[in-house]
Amino acid sequence: MFFYAFAMKLVFATNNPFKFREIKELLKSNLKLLTLKDINVSEEIPETHDTIEENAVEKAQYIYNKYHIDCFADDTGLEIEALNGEPGVYSARYAGKNCTFDDNINKVLENLKDSTNRRARFRTVIALVIKGKINLFEGVVNGSILTYRKGTNGFGYDPIFVPENFEKTFAEMALDEKNKVSHRTLAIKKLISYLNNK
Ligand code: IMP
Repeated sequence: MFFYAFAMKLVFATNNPFKFREIKELLKSNLKLLTLKDINVSEEIPETHDTIEENAVEKAQYIYNKYHIDCFADDTGLEIEALNGEPGVYSARYAGKNCTFDDNINKVLENLKDSTNRRARFRTVIALVIKGKINLFEGVVNGSILTYRKGTNGFGYDPIFVPENFEKTFAEMALDEKNKVSHRTLAIKKLISYLNNK
């Protein structure tokens, strides 16, 4: 009798190499994580909704329906209390189309310049599609927004976000340190636990 061990293949529907690296580090070796490039996806994946949940589902379903492969997609927002949850679902393009991470940070700092309430949170939602069935996993990390940038690691709003119980920004942390507490990690841990118990 022969036994075959097949690694489960899952596409992570993102074009962000930072996020792919973060998540790959957390996944077990019996799960083969593929990039969009690995399955020859070169087009832009639609992201047309006003909520993080809907966008995550839209991205994962787009890949599943078109390429017929199990996959997951994440969507993340920085939700700032004094800005009524902004930039939220618009975190990537807060300062306008084709803006840079720096432009977005400048806009946040400008909008918060008169505010003493610096409370904020990162929220990630992962949508997993396996054989057409959707499951959602959420990860939240609370923290606060500085009045200036600190640190050069990471990406996005990392230089101005200090997670709760820390005295440094995400951008001052090494990747493995950020990975221990990040919103994406919390969501991915829920995803992994789900996959392991299937
Ligand atoms: P996405 O939906 O995960 O691509 O995230 C949208 C935007 O949120 C990104 O373009 C970043 O500006 C920001 N963002 C997401 N995750 C992080 C993070 O871990 N640190 C800092 N900014 C992030």
